[in-house]
Amino acid sequence: MSQRPYAIDVMISAKTIAARIEDLCGEITTEFADTDKLVVVGLLRGSFVFIADLVRELDLPIEVDFLEASSYGDAMESSREVRILKDLRGAIEGRDVLVVEDIVDTGHTLNHVTKLLQSRSPKRLKSIALLDKPSRREVDFRSDWIGFEIPDEFVVGYGIDYAQRNRNLPHIGKVRFLEDGE
Ligand code: PRP
Ligand code: MN
Ligand code: MG
Repeated sequence: MSQRPYAIDVMISAKTIAARIEDLCGEITTEFADTDKLVVVGLLRGSFVFIADLVRELDLPIEVDFLEASSYGDAMESSREVRILKDLRGAIEGRDVLVVEDIVDTGHTLNHVTKLLQSRSPKRLKSIALLDKPSRREVDFRSDWIGFEIPDEFVVGYGIDYAQRNRNLPHIGKVRFLEDGE
């Protein structure tokens, strides 16, 4: 896919992300202190970096599972139609579940996924998103924990892509499109 040339400016540094994750994990550990085993569910593909850092800061017995939902494909605009491309491996009935997402934008993805998982009768279901863009919300959804509220900028890195690129940046960057000759 051909793309307009762009630069990436740092929006949230790797150090700032790590510090925030430490705080959030303290809260999550307290919330689920009595769990036998917490099922930590990462939404592929965007959450793969966040979930890896998150589980290593959780002082709880956990297992990980993954679910793939996609609404954007390679486009910059949400299709508003959430497709489940890969379901969980395990059952979650009667279990404690934490859904991990990289970003809540229109809210369609996490809204759809939490409703789907809720219908499977977990004991407790909570969600965490590293980033939240409340100004873009199209459905009434709020994650239980949020790393950072951000303005309506196109962001990449720390798992988040622009047409599948830039997921491997260690920080959250802001895409800045370049004018001709820049
Ligand atoms: C992105 C992002 C979130 C979702 C947020 O996923 O990772 O999952 O969109 O948008 P929404 O709140 O408007 O639904 P994408 O569909 O691009 O798939 P990916 O995680 O594989 O990149
Ligand atoms: Mn995603
Ligand atoms: Mg994407």
